[in-house]
Amino acid sequence: MNILVLGNGAREHALCFSIAKSKQLSRLFCAPGNYGISQIAEAHNIDINNFDILHNFCIAKKIDLVVVGPEVPLVNGVVDFLNSKNIKAFGPKKIPAGLEGSKIFMKDICSQYNIPTATYKSFTEKKLAEDYLKSHSLPVVIKASGLAAGKGVTIATSLDDGLIAIEDIFNNKFGSGCELVIEEFMDGEEASYFIFTDGTNYVPLSSAQDHKRIGDGDTGPNTGGMGAYSPAPVFTKEIQTQVNQEMIEPTLKAMRDLGTPYQGILYAGVMIKDNKAKLVEYNVRFGDPECQVLMLRLKSDIVELMLGTINGNINEIKADWANNHAATVVMASIGYPNEYKKGTEIKNLELAENEGGIKIFHAGTELKDEKILANGGRVLSISGSGNDLKSALNDIYSAIDKIDWPESTYRKDIGWRAINNG
Ligand code: AMP
Ligand code: GLY
Repeated sequence: MNILVLGNGAREHALCFSIAKSKQLSRLFCAPGNYGISQIAEAHNIDINNFDILHNFCIAKKIDLVVVGPEVPLVNGVVDFLNSKNIKAFGPKKIPAGLEGSKIFMKDICSQYNIPTATYKSFTEKKLAEDYLKSHSLPVVIKASGLAAGKGVTIATSLDDGLIAIEDIFNNKFGSGCELVIEEFMDGEEASYFIFTDGTNYVPLSSAQDHKRIGDGDTGPNTGGMGAYSPAPVFTKEIQTQVNQEMIEPTLKAMRDLGTPYQGILYAGVMIKDNKAKLVEYNVRFGDPECQVLMLRLKSDIVELMLGTINGNINEIKADWANNHAATVVMASIGYPNEYKKGTEIKNLELAENEGGIKIFHAGTELKDEKILANGGRVLSISGSGNDLKSALNDIYSAIDKIDWPESTYRKDIGWRAINNG
């Protein structure tokens, strides 16, 4: 099969790395891709949100399967579009993608199907949201309902912070529309859980934990994710059974009841406290950086799993995981998640990758005049695996020491929860 991966992050680099091992593969393409991806796939810089351009590309390259990495094209209906042109695509259609595209849709499904999550109220009028905030105890969580590239959530610890968050959303600061959700603050430890599903049956992936804050010890602003590890010991078998029964199964039923079964990968972000999980959010794609650690541990053919979600026979396919531990540390440009400099030079990547078992997934890199330059916020995902988490992380941090990139920043404490508890 000719396979096209959409996206340009380390997640898509990891997906290409995994797809490249598939027996099903003839030619691998990625759009738009990045420098790292171009080493293993044919990267083409096309506008993936322009569906006509995408369609023409698929015809020209005889694409048999499109794998959608990021949420924006899914929420805009790229799978419905490609299917209407008789092209197979991995990922949910537009309506079920609303589980990520609209927090109001997602929370309303939770309330109709008794899915444990934070109590909430949704608002389309600013004054009503402000009045509700003033009557609510703090902290409280204020979320833009629409897609906001990870920037639309504020944990308000003061009334002033909350009022600013409401103001920002109603000024459409995140381009996510003027609708919001105010919800109860949940305390606990977060974990990421993924399933491949054909709409009825599902195959769980191994567990993972992300590190969303920029600073060590989980401090500072939220980011797209600064590091991850898998498996995540906090996500016990017992929690998994609860999440399957109380979240995944009712959600899949809800999507079938709507007449649009969920097909693809479903990512549940959960908060665990006192051995009980509550749903924080759904995403309709792989997590980044969770995908990087999962792809290092997946032994099965990922394309078979993807085709199982499309063809409706996921129950006949198994996902096998290496019995080891994988981790990834994200290197970002200094200043991220706020302003940062572009075009800084990164040296010695080859030297670092020669370190035992290290794999470097690229997010924001480009090649210019024979130099590798950083052109994004999150830039590299330094990944590795080992018999235990500590040894995987030791290898990763010693690889990072070899990378010569003075304008970078990264967390020094990835995996700290699992290491402290283990
Ligand atoms: P979301 O986009 O809904 O995933 O929110 C982004 C991040 O904000 C989550 O991963 C959590 O770290 C945090 N968060 C979101 N909702 C809540 C909540 N109700 N209580 C505590 N933290 C939350
Ligand atoms: N790792 C968080 C996300 O992909 O949304």
